[in-house]
Amino acid sequence: MIRLSPYSVLIFHGNMLRVKSASRYSLLYSATCSSFLMFMTIAISKIVQGLAPSATLAMSAKAKELKSQGKTVYDLSVGEPDFVTPQHICDAGTAAMKSGYTKYTIASGIPELKKAIVEKYKIDYGLEYKPSQVVVSNGAKHSLHNVFFATLDPNDEVIIPAPYWVSYAELVKLSGAMPVILSTEESQNFKMTTEHFKQAITPKTKMLLLCNPSNPTGIMYNAKELEEIADIVLKKNLFVIADEIYDKLVYSNDQFVSFPTLRSGLQERTIVVNGVSKTYAMTGWRVGWTLSPENIAKKMGELQSQETSNPSSISQHAALAALTGPQDCVTEMLAAFIERRNYVAKRIAHINGLTCPEMNGAFYVFFNIKNYLGKTLGGVRIDNSEQFCLELLMQKQVATVMGSAFGCEGYVRASFAAGLDILKEAFDRISEFVNS
Ligand SMILES: Cc1ncc(COP(=O)(O)O)c(C=O)c1O
Repeated sequence: MIRLSPYSVLIFHGNMLRVKSASRYSLLYSATCSSFLMFMTIAISKIVQGLAPSATLAMSAKAKELKSQGKTVYDLSVGEPDFVTPQHICDAGTAAMKSGYTKYTIASGIPELKKAIVEKYKIDYGLEYKPSQVVVSNGAKHSLHNVFFATLDPNDEVIIPAPYWVSYAELVKLSGAMPVILSTEESQNFKMTTEHFKQAITPKTKMLLLCNPSNPTGIMYNAKELEEIADIVLKKNLFVIADEIYDKLVYSNDQFVSFPTLRSGLQERTIVVNGVSKTYAMTGWRVGWTLSPENIAKKMGELQSQETSNPSSISQHAALAALTGPQDCVTEMLAAFIERRNYVAKRIAHINGLTCPEMNGAFYVFFNIKNYLGKTLGGVRIDNSEQFCLELLMQKQVATVMGSAFGCEGYVRASFAAGLDILKEAFDRISEFVNS
């Protein structure tokens, strides 16, 4: 368990940021001939200096740079479906523009979309919410930011099982609170044990952040495992952020179980995060949402009204069409993901020295490269996952993301949200690389 300290958060948090801002200019004097030239640089705040950039987006940017140099790159770095947004959803976006839905909306989202989200949770999981418990944001990442800012105080602790999605720890730190990283083992299918969870709880623990199915490992907790976690949450009076953005991308025989359904009283202690990015191939539209107790939703809506106002009015109408329109597109994309997932599992099993947990959801494979650490691949010694990924990109033009970015050294994440032809070539190259 690692407690990450937020970088000088107390000094630069809230009002104190304003007090400090007057002295945030540094002056550089330079004597040239007989006159002085004055340069002024604006200092970066301590809290943002301490922010790690998104490793997935950084790897994707590197891959794009190589592509711009005319190289063919097999990009498995970013978690983005390769499908285009289904036509009826795009049409709804166009129709929204033509109908004049191009103005500000209520900051927390249009009532029709909130109603559709409420209905989805009723139909899919039997959960009863009111529209006033929904906040629609600019993607699920923004929803997570809203949750952390609306609920966390400095020094509150948030338990995050690792490997975790890259942005969790950084977003918690930005809010001034403290991410408590709880490592899990491949031998336990990267699942947090209840014993380990209990040990991590301190008087400062406010919430658990649970991503199910998981990015980056693709594992999914079953009902029994979730019930055990839920019992501890209730007993210890904790809150849970249930990031269920991959709820419709499930390949397991076990059914996906939405966290608040598990026990009575849990809905009041859970904030569900979800969105349209992954299920409907709508990453660029930027629509995510939260379902939370009403008082938190109210405050998150107010926060959003000051920070960003509403998410795009056009995107909200497109998301409405996604949720209320035909769902065959989801079934078709899921079928393609299943085929790719099976193909990738087979390829990993046949590459000497690589292992991975069974992928039950999402669209990632998180493979173990420990057998290759300390070895020389293509003439370069590889000591960690970052070097592995960089050399794989430079030598074989395959973009992946190092496990260290997900809080788990010795592993690499590859997305299988890419066509089978790309996956085939990429895994041929990964195989060549580890055998080089
Ligand atoms: C687990 C998880 N949560 C949230 C998000 C953010 O999704 P969005 O594109 O809606 O911001 C992602 C995107 O990669 C994710 O993998």
